[in-house]
Amino acid sequence: MEISFIGAGNLAWHLAPALENAGHHINEVYSRQLQHARQLVSNLYDARTHSDLNFADSPSRLFVLAVSDQAIETVCSQLVLPENAILVHTSGGQSLKNLEHWMAIYSDVPIRTGVFYALQTFTRGRSFMAFEGIPLCIEASDPSTEEALVQLGQDISDIVYIVSSEERLTLHISAVFACNFTNHLMALAHDLTVQQGLEFDLLKPLISETFRKGLAVGNPADVQTGPARRSDLVTLDKHLTYLQSQPRLSEMYQVLTESIQQYYATHDL
Ligand SMILES: NC(=O)c1ccc[n+]([C@@H]2O[C@H](COP(=O)([O-])OP(=O)(O)OC[C@H]3O[C@@H](n4cnc5c(N)ncnc54)[C@H](OP(=O)(O)O)[C@@H]3O)[C@@H](O)[C@H]2O)c1
Repeated sequence: MEISFIGAGNLAWHLAPALENAGHHINEVYSRQLQHARQLVSNLYDARTHSDLNFADSPSRLFVLAVSDQAIETVCSQLVLPENAILVHTSGGQSLKNLEHWMAIYSDVPIRTGVFYALQTFTRGRSFMAFEGIPLCIEASDPSTEEALVQLGQDISDIVYIVSSEERLTLHISAVFACNFTNHLMALAHDLTVQQGLEFDLLKPLISETFRKGLAVGNPADVQTGPARRSDLVTLDKHLTYLQSQPRLSEMYQVLTESIQQYYATHDL
């Protein structure tokens, strides 16, 4: 398929080469800051940078909106696309209805819309991710667009689902808990150890085993350990005393401790 990218951030960095490697052709990359588009283009076969949002003469059939969620409407309000082009956004949290609505009010020609959401964490500049094992959540405004997007998804991934906007929101919130919050907690653990002159590396086997074990069982709750799970009030109190000088950490420690305690008080585990 002939494809153009609008946005050259974390997601586009990985998705554009994956589509090319599956035999698709990236024609153009637009980015607000042109140098970001240039960097992405330098990793593609013969894509060109596109300096504005007028794609009226583009040979592409699919336009991938890979911009921050808050920028989607602004970009839609300036986008000029060929008639019957497919425009997809790549967001976990934005509904398809919003995209359909924006294109209905901003575009002079009919546009087919969809969602192409990859349930993974992507960081620009890191080595290219293999998409085979990455779940792709597809939604589309009409059956033929859905068929085209499912086919495209299956070209790069073994895990392609039709997912409604409501289901996608649930997955996105779950992803924030499973990925963004756990990563932030690792960053806080990093700072605590480094503040005391200790190596963060000391925690890495523990972190690896936590993920390995949590993923090996049906429900990670089955393998929860620690003072909150054991109702070890003496240790909990000692930890909170240690954290007295760091009120934000102390607050988070208490919220998470209460969450664990409440979870096991109300679940039959
Ligand atoms: N990163 C992930 O792990 C991940 C995973 C799944 C889905 N997604 C989704 O992918 C989409 C892109 O996320 P990302 O992580 O790639 O974001 P990102 O790295 O922050 O990149 C955002 C892109 O949006 C552009 N942009 C921001 N504000 C703009 C505006 N007002 N007008 C025009 N362009 C604007 C930026 O342009 P400049 O480069 O010029 O600043 C950049 O190209 C989002 O919908 C996100 O939910 C991300």
